[in-house]
Amino acid sequence: MTAPLPPQAPGLPFFGIAGPFFRDPLGFLIGARERHGDVVRVALGPMKTTLLSHPDLVEQVLVTENKSFQKDAFVDNLRPVLGAGLLTSEGDFWRRQRRLAQPAFHRSAIAGYGAIMVDYASALARTYRDGQVRAIHKDMMRLTLEIVAKTLFGADVGDSAEVVGEALEVILHTFSDPIALFLPFVRKLPTPTQKRFHAAIGRLDAIIYRFIEARRSSERAGTSDGESTDLLSMLLRAQDDDGGRMSDKQLRDEVMTLFLAGHETTALVLSWTWLLLSEHRAVDAKLGEELRDVLGDRAPSLADLPRLPYTSAVIQEAMRLYPPAWSLGREAREDVVVGGYLIPKGAQVWMCPWSIQRDPRFFSEPNTFAPERWRNDSIKSLHKYAYFPFGGGPRLCIGQAFAQMEAVLILATLARDFRVEVQPEPVVTPVPSVTLRPKHGIRGRMVARRA
Ligand code: HEM
Repeated sequence: MTAPLPPQAPGLPFFGIAGPFFRDPLGFLIGARERHGDVVRVALGPMKTTLLSHPDLVEQVLVTENKSFQKDAFVDNLRPVLGAGLLTSEGDFWRRQRRLAQPAFHRSAIAGYGAIMVDYASALARTYRDGQVRAIHKDMMRLTLEIVAKTLFGADVGDSAEVVGEALEVILHTFSDPIALFLPFVRKLPTPTQKRFHAAIGRLDAIIYRFIEARRSSERAGTSDGESTDLLSMLLRAQDDDGGRMSDKQLRDEVMTLFLAGHETTALVLSWTWLLLSEHRAVDAKLGEELRDVLGDRAPSLADLPRLPYTSAVIQEAMRLYPPAWSLGREAREDVVVGGYLIPKGAQVWMCPWSIQRDPRFFSEPNTFAPERWRNDSIKSLHKYAYFPFGGGPRLCIGQAFAQMEAVLILATLARDFRVEVQPEPVVTPVPSVTLRPKHGIRGRMVARRA
């Protein structure tokens, strides 16, 4: 191929732009596009990647030429935890797993989960008191964990939710170390953090295998009604055309993947939404009005979703400004030309919803939280890949419909009765680790809407 390599962002020998990147990664990503354009090579110490900052290029990599790419080296960080689950596997193995799992995520299959989501959110709302200060991000993590555990395992989850929550917290904390994320060999060192990390994986494995065994033995004993609608039952029953089913190890990897991917991201969307609502009282008031008009004193249900357009727009807009998956990475499987430049085989590319979704070429007043924009006609001409919080192409998030339904139902349940005033301390700082997390959490004072 004769195309030139992309321009290189100037930096120090060996370190490249690691200094400015680690000082302020999110600011760096937006500045890099402004200074260097839509395609630029950057070196973060030994880690090299090319930033692609135009929706056309995102579409090319994720959709039209997806076969020329695979997940990038960053995903190696997740393999010790997720094994070869949907998020981390490739090729024919991934295709078969996706085919087996897909029916469990169809809109019709997940419709029954709406009531579970509202029940758990209502239980949380009952613990809230006017004026009480809460750890908002922790509350959201706990809530979405309970929901994903219930929808995965049906009634079986019991007391294990606590152990699972703590183990997942250790794992996510380990991921928030940027040095280990970008220099994966650090993970191989027997540091106390790594030991805690592996012990947490062991505790989760024990619980997950117990669930799988219990479900298999009830199937063997014929005590299963064959109609359970939790995800584990559906995955257990899932069968290939040739009759092949998932092994225990495959089930373990998928369950672990769904556990992690299925609660942390949605909890983040809700946490960032509370922050934005607290900063924008007019939006919050409008949300409260819609919820009062549509719901009155009752809890929401799935049937209410079409009648809650503003609530949905609030979630959509929060995911634009604070996309939990702040960057999607890929590695070229062969030489490929993107945006007129050569991406050689083995090279990494990053596509960042964080910067593209704040690009003034695609969104007017891009840093303003304005849910109304999603209801304007002009949004109809938005490039499909100017907004891609769930990715795109064959590797599109399998849980998109689940997550959208969950986020809107939870927000509707909680915000019907309360608004949140985020406290000045600790200052809320977004940190891009595997996902975009609030560094010191979010402390918020609950204020009853109708005192
Ligand atoms: C707002 C919440 C969520 C966001 C923002 C989100 C975002 C994403 C993104 C961007 C990807 C694609 C990654 C890539 O292409 O490299 C993805 C994949 C995935 N997500 Fe989600 N996700 C969310 C909720 C969920 C939920 C609730 C589940 C499951 C219950 C889930 C399960 C998965 C799985 C299994 C994959 C891998 C799919 C595959 O490669 O076949 N996600 N998610």
